[in-house]
Amino acid sequence: MKFIHLLAAAMAISAVSCSERVKVTADYQVVPLPQTITETAGEQAFVLNPDTRIVATDSSMTSNAELLAGYIARMNGFTPEITSDTPGDNYIILNANLDNVNKEAYEINVSSSHIAINGASPAGTFYGIQTIRKSIPGNSGNCDVVFSPATISDAPRFSYRGAHFDSSRHFFDADSIKIFIDMLALHNINHMHWHLTDDQGWRVEINRRPELTRTGSMRAGTIIGHGGPDNNSFDSIPYGGYYTQEQIRDIVDYASRRHITIVPEIDLPGHMQAALASYPELGCTGGPYEVWQRWGISDDVLCAGNDSIYAFIDDVLDEITELFPSEYIHIGGDECPKVRWEKCPKCQARIRQLGLRDNEHGTAEQQLQSHVMRHATEFLTQRGRKVIGWDEILEGGITPDAIVMSWRGTEGGKAAAEAGHDAIMTPSQYLYFDFVQSDDRESEPLGASWGDPVTVELVYSYEPVPENLTPEQAAHIIGVQANLWTEYVPTMRHAQYMELPRLGALAEVQWSNAAKDYPAFLQRLKRLASIYDAEGYNYARHAFETKNEDCANETQTAQ
Ligand code: ACM
Ligand code: ZN
Repeated sequence: MKFIHLLAAAMAISAVSCSERVKVTADYQVVPLPQTITETAGEQAFVLNPDTRIVATDSSMTSNAELLAGYIARMNGFTPEITSDTPGDNYIILNANLDNVNKEAYEINVSSSHIAINGASPAGTFYGIQTIRKSIPGNSGNCDVVFSPATISDAPRFSYRGAHFDSSRHFFDADSIKIFIDMLALHNINHMHWHLTDDQGWRVEINRRPELTRTGSMRAGTIIGHGGPDNNSFDSIPYGGYYTQEQIRDIVDYASRRHITIVPEIDLPGHMQAALASYPELGCTGGPYEVWQRWGISDDVLCAGNDSIYAFIDDVLDEITELFPSEYIHIGGDECPKVRWEKCPKCQARIRQLGLRDNEHGTAEQQLQSHVMRHATEFLTQRGRKVIGWDEILEGGITPDAIVMSWRGTEGGKAAAEAGHDAIMTPSQYLYFDFVQSDDRESEPLGASWGDPVTVELVYSYEPVPENLTPEQAAHIIGVQANLWTEYVPTMRHAQYMELPRLGALAEVQWSNAAKDYPAFLQRLKRLASIYDAEGYNYARHAFETKNEDCANETQTAQ
């Protein structure tokens, strides 16, 4: 009996290892679901095998071709040759001349002789490549893959499809950031919002302000657990790290080859304690300040009455725009307490000088914050960039053309759209991936100290366009993003666990127009998880109803 079991197990293993070139079948029901999939009757299938070649029709397709060859190598164990000449048959041809106003659109035609992937731009072709890649079962190592004849036409619903990542609270080295970028590419995400500065660490080298990384990138220790008024237990382990400008350029390039724009965030005028520790003269009290060892919201912020903060902001943003070609630059604006400004003679003098009074736009101090944000916005607008700010930028008067990132629920995004501003929806109750994923908190790694669990199903259920907007207002909802704050996320393996498979549900919300059907989505998500396995990603299993035994331990010690 035992022997029969062993024999069956051995046979199963040999089937998946494909020693005799076993064929597996591709399935176009991927995440995110393409807009239309039409099977073509009567034709023979296309078979991807070690003789298949990838045709890059011109140099704009070279990078796409290399990425596709790499995906097939990792999934199937053979690397297709890349050529510029079209062979007689057995090839995948990449083009970018599809006629479509949506530049991220693509079309795929599968016939017996070849697969044609045609984008409305190289980005569109890249999303076609992702669909082909995700059609391949994740456990098809060294197998041939049978693609049934079909035509797939697809384009994304939203132009801004974001994922935010916090490198301040914990530092993730450049290689980890590249892994994160690869995870985003798998989910058709086209913007990585990179939170590079906060109270607990300044992570981007600024040549004109060297103390920001010399002093501001290191903290003396870290609070243990959530912290709070009664918790003064610190680990006393010095902690830090930062990205050199050379590393940033390399990461920006790595992302751009995957058609991902990195949107850097310099969080103003609050969340600045690491900068104050570096340059204490920028604060209202003059310090001394330390790079913060706690989580939460620091009362110490940039002194808006001090002329030198404006020169500081210009210096930082000048180098940021040199490093990041993104059209969008995020200037924060969230959680800036006004307690220092209310007492600071310089801030109060600035309020008088500007003639600010409490009124329907907000308190004088809220309007003083708008004054700081307007300065940064004008600096960036003159350089041809657009600013994004957290929804607090609506308080105290919003700068024209600023894009609102709605995080305290959906109201900020709705108000912004009604006022004619573009908005990106990232409401915490649906899209904060630092929130735990199940009610069973005991079995979960530590999550945010606030917020209800955010399950895969909840993420999937989210509809980004608020009700009761006119079509013109609804067009101002340009996109959707999930955020990963990393106070309690010290490693990339842990970050993967928080992101996956919730990123799959996010991708569907960002990309697809299809009517919601959670059971059908879950089937597609299971297949996506087989690619997570093939890529070696760590992911949460709650949605698949298998017990997640020792994930918490694993995620704490990984990397
Ligand atoms: C935020 O979560 N403070 C934007
Ligand atoms: Zn001040």
